[in-house]
Amino acid sequence: MPDNDSIQAGKNYGIGIPQKSDGFFLKGSASLDWGVKNRLAQIFCPKSGNSVMLAFDHGYIMGPTSGLERMDLTIVPLIDYADCIMCTRGALRSIVPPTVRKPLSLRFSAGSTILTDLNDECVMDIDEALRVNATILAVMVAVGDPKHEALTIRNLTKTVDLGMKYSIPAMGVTAVGKELVRDARYLSMASRVCAENGAHVIKTYYCEKDFAQVVNSVPVPIVIAGGKKLPEKEALDMAYRAISDGASGVDMGRNIFQSDSPAAMIQAVREVVHKGAKPEQAYKLYEELKNKK
Ligand code: R5P
Repeated sequence: MPDNDSIQAGKNYGIGIPQKSDGFFLKGSASLDWGVKNRLAQIFCPKSGNSVMLAFDHGYIMGPTSGLERMDLTIVPLIDYADCIMCTRGALRSIVPPTVRKPLSLRFSAGSTILTDLNDECVMDIDEALRVNATILAVMVAVGDPKHEALTIRNLTKTVDLGMKYSIPAMGVTAVGKELVRDARYLSMASRVCAENGAHVIKTYYCEKDFAQVVNSVPVPIVIAGGKKLPEKEALDMAYRAISDGASGVDMGRNIFQSDSPAAMIQAVREVVHKGAKPEQAYKLYEELKNKK
């Protein structure tokens, strides 16, 4: 308790200096609560506005996929280069050191695997998100999937409602399925449905044609998944085109951890996402870092 005797009357009121009332750097996020903004600002760099999220949650539907057999050996060394990690609670507790000071995109929906019927999912308990200090909750949404569309949209709305009790934002992850075509028309619709149902960030796929239309049809930030492994130059080119079209970053997995040199690749991706490096420049950096011992 302060010592009563030493209390001095305040004098420094900055009269004549209006208090700054800054907006918020992320698209569509200015009216959110302080806690939500603070979490989003941990994920997205306030200077570039963008984020390199490292996704390694694939095991929840695929099992030990290539590059993720021993996550302690392949993923942990990459975490320093990521702005945010995206994983399951299982991977988090078993291989991610609790000393890691990176925001966490927690895989919050789960339920089926590639062996059966994808997207038949439920969401976790919000208490679990609090226990692991989740920064954002990632939920799969299968727009257009006749069996699971309603279920997965309900999963998203439930997650938004639960998360907002504690100012934890939600990321809608647009699912793909055998019948779903990854074109601008579909991706715009799926992304917009996620945003309208309360997702604060959308994770979707890049499409060659009219990706700017996908970005502009959604009132919140979009990050792209990397998708299947491409040659490094092509993956950097895809990231460049997505950022140029207005994406706020990448949530990339296989194109990083299945690369010939994952550490070099994630650093090259950073150059594109945060500094707007052209694909050729970024690829040059990748080669330099890869060949450096
Ligand atoms: C997709 O639902 C998974 O959760 C992955 O996080 C996502 O596909 C990103 O990984 P990749 O860049 O390998 O596509």
